[in-house]
Amino acid sequence: MKRVFSGVQPTGNIHIGNYLGALKQFVELQDENECIYCIVDEHAITVPQDPKELKKHILDVAALYMAIGIDPKKSIVFVQSSVSGHAELGWVLNCAANTGELFRMTPFKAKSQGKQSVGAGLLTYPVLMAADILLYDTDIVPVGNDQKQHIELTRDLAIRVNAKYGKDTFVVPDGRFMKSGARIMALDDPTSKMSKSAPNDHSRISLLDEPSKIKKSIMRATTDSDGIVKFDIENKPGVSNLLSIYSAFTGKTVEELEAEYDGHGYGDFKKDLVEVTVNALAPIKERYNEIRESQELIDALKDGAERADAIARKTMERVRDRFGLGL
Ligand code: TYM
Repeated sequence: MKRVFSGVQPTGNIHIGNYLGALKQFVELQDENECIYCIVDEHAITVPQDPKELKKHILDVAALYMAIGIDPKKSIVFVQSSVSGHAELGWVLNCAANTGELFRMTPFKAKSQGKQSVGAGLLTYPVLMAADILLYDTDIVPVGNDQKQHIELTRDLAIRVNAKYGKDTFVVPDGRFMKSGARIMALDDPTSKMSKSAPNDHSRISLLDEPSKIKKSIMRATTDSDGIVKFDIENKPGVSNLLSIYSAFTGKTVEELEAEYDGHGYGDFKKDLVEVTVNALAPIKERYNEIRESQELIDALKDGAERADAIARKTMERVRDRFGLGL
């Protein structure tokens, strides 16, 4: 059995990009692998957070995990800050990472915009992510394309530490990316990725959006004027993005969809995509509402934290021993 680890930041607006790029994979993987899914609250505080909102969002994401079909009996589901090994291994890995490679990370460059007044946590964010992954001897990390660079860094750190401290100190993990869905773009601007924080609410479809909102967002999504449903990222990024979303929700290939909508305008295509999206999200929302306030959710997270901690402790014993830390 392979070990799988991934995480999502507890912020509002978890959207179909997060779902189609990452969360959907979490569910697919859980039957055949040993899966560990984390709510990465320590990553969230790399930017300012309202403590009350953060606590709420942790449970929101946990409930979404369950709502999409993650079964806490099969998979370990827990909150990052409940297991101290993440911060501890993060420190050790900070000492193996170079500042140069951290300054080169695209998300850091985008978020800091050259300012030196940003928190140091933004710079070392990818090292904590590497710690999350390496702490569990992870083989596979299901994520969206935007995390590729972070996965590469994780691999580099693991290989570097193994070369110095022994080749079985860390398992070197692989990223896992979806064919359709690895990079869902903003509906209002298909040249930038769909994000939780973009100011325009119609740039994204959140997993808990009402059908009327989903309809509005899709019907007003940016396309082009040639009226042909065809995948062409360069020249038709908007239509291509909608095709990716359609394909990821239905399992139909882009080619099948192109053939299906041959001779139809964008109106028909978008109307059907609204239906596909609403139907895919309805059961998630229903289950979410059942579970969000339940004791079952809290119990699952507590149990998950214990199980995760047991694995993390073993890794940390090995790491302390290899690095010569402690008595
Ligand atoms: P986060 O919370 O930003 O996003 C969660 C997951 O959603 C994917 N994603 C997307 N996929 C396709 N299209 C998009 N527009 C899109 N936007 C986001 C992300 O790639 C991610 O898989 N650093 C991570 C959280 C993290 C983590 C980890 C992940 C912390 N430690 C260890 C894996 C393993 C992040 O900020 O994800």
